Amino acid sequence: MIASHNRILFVGFGAVARCTLPILLSHLKVSPTQITILDFDPNESALKPWIEKGVTFVQEKIVPENLGAVLAQHVSTGDLLIDLAWNIDCCEIVQWCHDHGVMYLNTSVELWDPYEHSKNAHPSQLTLYWRHNNLRRMIAGWASPGPTAVLEHGANPGLISHFTKQALLDIAANCLAEKKFIGEQAERIQSHVKSLEFNHLAHELGVKVIHCSERDTQITNCPKEVDEFVNTWSVEGFREEGTTTAEMGWGTHEKELPPFAYQHSDGPKSQICMARMGMNTFVVSWVPSYNIVGMVVRHGEAFSITENLSVRDASGNTIYRPTVHYAYCPCDAAIASLNELRGYDYKLQPRIRIMTDEITSGSDILGALVMGHPLTSWWCGSDLSIEESRRLVPHQNATTMQVAISVVAACMWMIQNPNRGVNLPDNLPHDFVLDIAKPYLGTFISMQSDWTPLKHYTNAFHGYNQPQIDHADPWQFKNFLLTDGD
Ligand SMILES: NC(=O)c1ccc[n+]([C@@H]2O[C@H](COP(=O)([O-])OP(=O)(O)OC[C@H]3O[C@@H](n4cnc5c(N)ncnc54)[C@H](O)[C@@H]3O)[C@@H](O)[C@H]2O)c1
Repeated sequence: MIASHNRILFVGFGAVARCTLPILLSHLKVSPTQITILDFDPNESALKPWIEKGVTFVQEKIVPENLGAVLAQHVSTGDLLIDLAWNIDCCEIVQWCHDHGVMYLNTSVELWDPYEHSKNAHPSQLTLYWRHNNLRRMIAGWASPGPTAVLEHGANPGLISHFTKQALLDIAANCLAEKKFIGEQAERIQSHVKSLEFNHLAHELGVKVIHCSERDTQITNCPKEVDEFVNTWSVEGFREEGTTTAEMGWGTHEKELPPFAYQHSDGPKSQICMARMGMNTFVVSWVPSYNIVGMVVRHGEAFSITENLSVRDASGNTIYRPTVHYAYCPCDAAIASLNELRGYDYKLQPRIRIMTDEITSGSDILGALVMGHPLTSWWCGSDLSIEESRRLVPHQNATTMQVAISVVAACMWMIQNPNRGVNLPDNLPHDFVLDIAKPYLGTFISMQSDWTPLKHYTNAFHGYNQPQIDHADPWQFKNFLLTDGD
């Protein structure tokens, strides 16, 4: 077990942090007295056992006015800050950690007030792409990379980048075994596998589309009530990302933009966004072993996986990139909550609940659906049941477990690599992360599928409507997107 003699600060002690802390302590030799938890809204019963073990709790809210002063009281050079709160400006906290030699981890890139300036703003300014470009500009001004920061290392974004890499390696191995590629092309694929050049590998394999496909089947004996938003993870986080623009990495194979799409005018121009909420942008997708209808909720992996898999020529022009986005089918209670939210014109219900002990059955099935290569589709990810999650850490659900183990794996890497500057999940070694994570992921699946968006397509009003379908190329975004004529 690796030991750490530095301090660890948890900012936010909600669903994910409560699951992360016990797992972290089982992987890292660290005394509870080295740990401080900071949250403005303490959950006494969740905190009590940790305070009894020696963890320090501070009731405080990080706000723009106190960020530096509060953090300086609890962390300094060599220490680790684990940010599992919401809406702390990512640029500001990353810059502070850089300036003070503190390692930093979060699971999403956020702003102080994501709703400020959002009214009538151009959709491109509401994207994670925009936030990532701001981060890139800030980092470009630094003299040295500085202490390690890992951004967006939860389940998705986070593990999904490692699932994608594993899927690409498994597709390559199976294609080569089945002689789908021969001669020089097979040799190139072998070489990309050996050198872990995932962008060239995806290009050579012919990958067109990658979904982060998720179906959460966890249900409860305590149904959602009227005026209540129920979910298996942060309601505030979900509402924020669900009610803003849908965004996605935009593949070089795509023939036409979807309705209400906007392209970016600066940065790598690897994404598009839509003047349409993610929670109202539905696509067909697949998890083992059934179809789902998911929402294109904007997520960090659409930026980082797309960037990591892009192939550019000597002049910097992009010659290959896949389409990448989330296809999220949340738990039934969350689907009902979203429907009520629509009716309330997107004003959040007065009561919110994250399901834990009241869950009676179900799993979180989360993975990378990698499509368009000679094996048609491949899914790599985790099918984690509520029973297994509880066996691993009592009082947790499957969704937070997948996030928590990813946080722990990244922390382990950071402690062993303390001076690597700012990293996205794709910069971390997938085998290191998956070796730590797999025992916590329930059934780890990496399998071929013959699924395509057209496989189960039927038109109930054939001849009387105009479905947006391209039969010549199943991997066009329009074939996934549910539109009026479909
Ligand atoms: N990448 C992923 O896979 C993934 C998955 C789930 C959640 N997340 C993110 O992880 C974060 C935590 O999620 P969660 O489900 O534990 O949320 P949660 O709402 O259960 O917990 C967040 C906690 O942070 C506290 N908090 C919020 N802002 C704070 C501030 N400024 N100062 C101090 N405390 C603050 C809240 O009081 C709450 O206890 C969110 O940002 C969420 O979007 C990422």
